Amino acid sequence: MKAVILAGGAGTRLRPLTLATNKHLLPVYDKPVIYYAIEKIVAAGIYKIMVVTSGEHIADFIKLLGSGQEFSRPQGGQVQIVYGIQNEPNGIAYGLYIARDYVGTDDCLLFLGDNIFEDDLTPHIKSFRDGARVFLKNVPDPQRFGIATVNKKGTVTAIEEKPEKPTSDLAVTGLYLFDSTVFDKMVDQPKSARGEYEITYINNKYVKEGKLEAVLLEKEWFDVGTVDSLLAASMHMQEKERRKARHG
Ligand code: DAU
Repeated sequence: MKAVILAGGAGTRLRPLTLATNKHLLPVYDKPVIYYAIEKIVAAGIYKIMVVTSGEHIADFIKLLGSGQEFSRPQGGQVQIVYGIQNEPNGIAYGLYIARDYVGTDDCLLFLGDNIFEDDLTPHIKSFRDGARVFLKNVPDPQRFGIATVNKKGTVTAIEEKPEKPTSDLAVTGLYLFDSTVFDKMVDQPKSARGEYEITYINNKYVKEGKLEAVLLEKEWFDVGTVDSLLAASMHMQEKERRKARHG
């Protein structure tokens, strides 16, 4: 399994914080946002990672992360980070497409770099066989996210991107497991009404095959795409560190 972290996008909801830099380089408590993604991926046993970002910011990512030398594997040995450039923020599916040759015939974990997860991903990665898997979380504001409808077996029957009238409160978080057919599903993909190649379109192709599984996350999840959630994530991490210091 290889991992692809998307760290492009325009970051418009965070302006002026993102006028001179990239959202994924901003701090959440004591680390840049993208560190949380890398640490989570490495803890789950994936050591080959492609970071996809804009040409404008790629040099900053290389300066920060290099080849991954700061992120050692638990049993020793190095994590290998490589880079891809997305020339314009034309959608999450397009960002993943840039990693097509890198992923090859492997399965892949797509991680939206502005998401922070507290759940351990290891069991979900170990148990993945084929098809695709999304990770859901109950939210109070479903209009902001991709929203899933799930049947009793845990199979997703539909996903709607930012619905005006949501059918559930189950948000699709920025974490996806795909088998290698994901890239075939992008052939002839149309742009959405907002002008993007949506990952929801790809997920719905797996839905049609009856191959999109859902996992309900149990712990905290942050999408730090807004000022409020960026602050909430920082405060959560500060509290976690303080608790650790108190209790060892
Ligand atoms: O956070 C979960 C949500 O992420 C999902 O519920 C939605 O289904 C999904 O579409 C996405 O919605 P957002 O509106 O939050 O996506 P955003 O444009 O903020 O981009 C998410 C991440 O992907 C962010 O880290 C930037 C990166 N990105 C985005 C686009 C559009 C890229 O690297 N390239 C892109 O072209």
